Amino acid sequence: MEPIIKVEDLTHIYPTGQVVAVKDISLEINPGEIVGVIGQNGSGKTTLVKHFIGLLKPTSGKVIVNGKDTAPLRVQQIAANVGYVYQNPNHQLFARTVREELAFGPRNLDLPEDEVNARVEQAVEFFHLEELLELHPYRISFPLRKLVGMASIYTMRPAVFILDEPTTGQDNITTQTVYRLIKKLRDEGSTVLCVAHDMILLAEVVDRMLVLRDGDLIMDATPREVFSNYEIMSSTHLTPPQITTLSLRLREKYDAFDNVALSIDEMVSEVQKFSNK
Ligand SMILES: Nc1ncnc2c1ncn2[C@@H]1O[C@H](COP(=O)(O)OP(=O)(O)OP(=O)(O)O)[C@@H](O)[C@H]1O
Ligand SMILES: [Mg+2]
Repeated sequence: MEPIIKVEDLTHIYPTGQVVAVKDISLEINPGEIVGVIGQNGSGKTTLVKHFIGLLKPTSGKVIVNGKDTAPLRVQQIAANVGYVYQNPNHQLFARTVREELAFGPRNLDLPEDEVNARVEQAVEFFHLEELLELHPYRISFPLRKLVGMASIYTMRPAVFILDEPTTGQDNITTQTVYRLIKKLRDEGSTVLCVAHDMILLAEVVDRMLVLRDGDLIMDATPREVFSNYEIMSSTHLTPPQITTLSLRLREKYDAFDNVALSIDEMVSEVQKFSNK
């Protein structure tokens, strides 16, 4: 299978920047993978993923998306395949109403008006935006504005869906929508990249995690492997979900806990195995 994203020795230095934001990173992402990107504030997560839609161009190295080098391409040329939901929705949204915001992407793809309307309807239903359609995006709360950002990318059905901190600043209800969205994208066969500080979200939804520290890619493995790696976790100042920490502690103490649990369900089955022994 051809990777949908291929990164070769990517380095990025901002023109005004004092630091190398991304250092000599190489990686491949296959179609259908659900990948988390983690690391401390300023470790280069946003810088890395913005290259996948051409918002940033490599200082050196290459980024190949869908077989094409992104260096000479404009964002609009990549946007049919890749959607990026900004960390800050204020940098993304520009239309005067939520309805126009949702319709802009598919209209720009030259889809027939019927299809544009159908996609807007579907997004409104999925993200529960019924009451907001005629409002200015800046008149609605931050969590809902972020959902509008996701919905306006969802209407384009990109093959690669990039979410930058989708649950940061979200309340319980909008967080649940983010979980439902990622699961839906997975079921639809999309490739998903999710930058997040929310380890519980990642434990539940991703197959693979990229760990960044000071611009370096220091680990590329399953959430179970990443969360079990004490050195990696402490050097990035990130903490696994509490249930995983509990499971790691028990495993140190009792041989019977041989698997690391990522969820309460997995913990329960470990405890059951333990009590049967
Ligand atoms: N527009 C910019 N100009 C100059 N330097 C920048 C710019 N954007 C980011 N940087 C710097 O590049 C480095 C990586 O930043 P980046 O935003 O990619 O990190 P991040 O991992 O997404 O952080 P956060 O968790 O805070 O979103 C940081 O040192 C940051 O200060
Ligand atoms: Mg960021």
